[in-house]
Amino acid sequence: MGAAAWAPLPLPPRLSLLLLLLPLPGLPAGSWDPAGYLLYCPCMGRFGNQADHFLGSLAFAKLLNRTLAVPPWIEYQHHKPPFTNEGNPFGPFWDHFHVSFNKSELFAGISFSASYKDQWIQRFPPEEHPVLALPGAPAQFPVLKEHRQLQKYMVWSEEMVQVGQAQIHTHLSRPYVGIHLRIGSDWKNACAMLKDGTAGSHFMASPQCVGYGRGTAAPLTMTMCLPDLKEVRRAVKLWVQALNAQSVYIATDSESYVPEIQQLLKGKVKVVSLRPEVAQIDLYILGEADHFIGNCVSSFTAFVKRERDLQGKSSSFFGMDRPPQPRDEF
Ligand SMILES: *[C@@H]1O[C@H](CO)[C@@H](O)[C@H](O)[C@H]1NC(C)=O
Ligand SMILES: *[C@@H]1O[C@H](CO)[C@@H](O)[C@H](O)[C@H]1NC(C)=O
Repeated sequence: MGAAAWAPLPLPPRLSLLLLLLPLPGLPAGSWDPAGYLLYCPCMGRFGNQADHFLGSLAFAKLLNRTLAVPPWIEYQHHKPPFTNEGNPFGPFWDHFHVSFNKSELFAGISFSASYKDQWIQRFPPEEHPVLALPGAPAQFPVLKEHRQLQKYMVWSEEMVQVGQAQIHTHLSRPYVGIHLRIGSDWKNACAMLKDGTAGSHFMASPQCVGYGRGTAAPLTMTMCLPDLKEVRRAVKLWVQALNAQSVYIATDSESYVPEIQQLLKGKVKVVSLRPEVAQIDLYILGEADHFIGNCVSSFTAFVKRERDLQGKSSSFFGMDRPPQPRDEF
C-alpha cells in the first residue's frame, strides 16, 4: 500500500549497505507506527548525491513524523558510468524489498520543503496512507544548509572501519593529506557549463565553499570545478609542507597523477592511490586524513567535508585554500 508517482530514472545493478544509520528513538520493537512510514528509492545519482538526498529525506520524515525506512546505497561500479535499464526502473528496486502497491497517486503541486508540511499531512494522512513509497528522495540537491548537520546520524559500519583502518595502516604514514580528484570526462563536460556561463556560482555541491546565499556567493572558478595539474601540484605542495606530511592519498574518478605528484615531492613523501572497487573505501580514507583537499562542486567531496567538519578536521578545496569555517555553517 502507499502512494507513488512515476518518472523514468535509471536503476543500477548492485545494491549494498555499507553505512548504517543509528536508529531514532522509536516504538517498542515489532509494533506498527500509527504516524506512518516513508520509503523512497534512492534512484538518482551516485553515492554523493544519494547522501545529500538522504539527509533531506531524514528531515522530511521527521517533518511528517513518519518512520523512515532507510534505503540501501545504490552502488555503481566506481570507475564505470551507471548502468541504465529499460522499462519501469523502479520495479526491480521495490521487488528486491518485497514492496507491492495497491494505489498510486501523483503529488503534483507540493514540494518537500517544510512550508508544505500541512499539505502533506492533509493530502496523505497516515490513517489513509500508512505507507508512502516515493520513486525518488523527498529532498533537494544539494542538501540544504540547515540539514548538513544531520550528517552526524551517518556512521560507518564496524566492517567498514576495520577495512578502512587496515588500508590506512598498510599503505599510509601520518600525517597524511587526502585529495579527491574529480577530473573525468563527464566532469569536464559539466564544468564546461561554468565556462560558457550556463552555470553560475551555485552549481551542484558548490554552496559548500561559495556559501549558500544567492546574493552573497563567492565566484566559482574553473580551477575550483576542474583543477588542472598545475593547481593540483600547487595545493598538494602547500598542504604537504604545512603539515610536514609523510604521505598523500589520492582518490580519483580517472587519472591519479601518482607519478607527477611523486616527482613533485621528490620521492620524500609516499603517494598512494588504491582505486578500490567500492567508493566507500576512498571516502573512509579521505575522512580520516590529517588534511583533505576536495572539489567544491562534487557531492562526493561534500560527504567527506561534512563528516570532517563534524569532527573538527581541516579541509580545503582546489582553488580555495581557506574555505568558510564550519562554525559558519553548522
Ligand atoms: C491495499 O491493500 C491492503 C492489504 O491487502 C488493504 O488492507 C487496503 O485496504 C488496500 N487499499 C486500497 C486503497 O485498495
Ligand atoms: C509522532 O508519532 C508518534 C508515534 O510514532 C506519536 O507518539 C507522537 O505523538 C507523534 N508526534 C506528533 C507531534 O504528532
